[in-house]
Amino acid sequence: MSNGKVAAKVAIVTGGARGIGRACALALARAGFDLALVDVLEPEMARTRGEIEALGRRAMTCAADVADFARAQAVAAEVKSGLGRIDVLVNNAGRAQPKGILEITEAEYDNTLAVNLKSCFNYIRATAPIMLAQGGGRIVSMSSLNAHSGGVTAAVSRFAYASAKAGIIGMTRALAKELGPTILINAICPGLIQTELAKNHVIVERGAAIARDGIALHRVGTTEDVAQLVVFLAASEPCYITGQDFKVDGFQYNM
Ligand SMILES: NC(=O)c1ccc[n+]([C@@H]2O[C@H](COP(=O)([O-])OP(=O)(O)OC[C@H]3O[C@@H](n4cnc5c(N)ncnc54)[C@H](O)[C@@H]3O)[C@@H](O)[C@H]2O)c1
Repeated sequence: MSNGKVAAKVAIVTGGARGIGRACALALARAGFDLALVDVLEPEMARTRGEIEALGRRAMTCAADVADFARAQAVAAEVKSGLGRIDVLVNNAGRAQPKGILEITEAEYDNTLAVNLKSCFNYIRATAPIMLAQGGGRIVSMSSLNAHSGGVTAAVSRFAYASAKAGIIGMTRALAKELGPTILINAICPGLIQTELAKNHVIVERGAAIARDGIALHRVGTTEDVAQLVVFLAASEPCYITGQDFKVDGFQYNM
């Protein structure tokens, strides 16, 4: 630690090109981390990399589909050789799936679970051995308020997405025991956050009135609201928090 900031450690952020992942990457860069971004959106990822470098931190980009197990192994090796170490993994990449149980195909269900849940397995499996060998590490995985609520309405149940996000919470609890005390692992359950993923959301469409009725803090969340907690869980020393999931939702009690 120097000047109240974390010494140059390395964080991987999946889905780091835009939205919550981009905000997490920039907040970690401001906290002193060098960054590896993993995403399928290469131009957006290059832009975020430039923003990180403008903050004076090293950054690399890894084009990868997080559902691909073998690619995750290769990405971990690329980051280790490119930036020297891996201290933090933020499993943030994810994708919504609005189809109900009677409409969804098997392939759509499998893909939703692969992108939102198996992706966490892929990247933890690839990076935990490196963190254990280094003697420490932090993992933060992006679950969702949907894991608790099941979604806003019956029409937008997002049951496959909710299943995957609830799976992250179980994975987090089990791995806290398996990887502790060396690696601390937690999950975050954002409520509605203003991003591309949420732009067609029923609450965003209904606007401010519903936010006042259904959110104690009277606004939808920002990407920075989530990034702030990611940095705390990734960097605070000492830390006696593992195996938990935290809602960042302004208390969204109608969702
Ligand atoms: N925005 C919300 O309201 C909200 C609420 C709860 C949870 N979340 C979760 O937060 C995370 C970030 O979402 P966001 O709102 O920033 O969405 P977003 O769509 O703005 O960003 C998601 C990022 O993940 C990347 N990504 C998606 N699938 C990928 C794949 N297969 N391989 C590699 N990269 C992939 C996208 O390219 C994108 O850069 C997701 O896991 C999402 O489920 C979001």
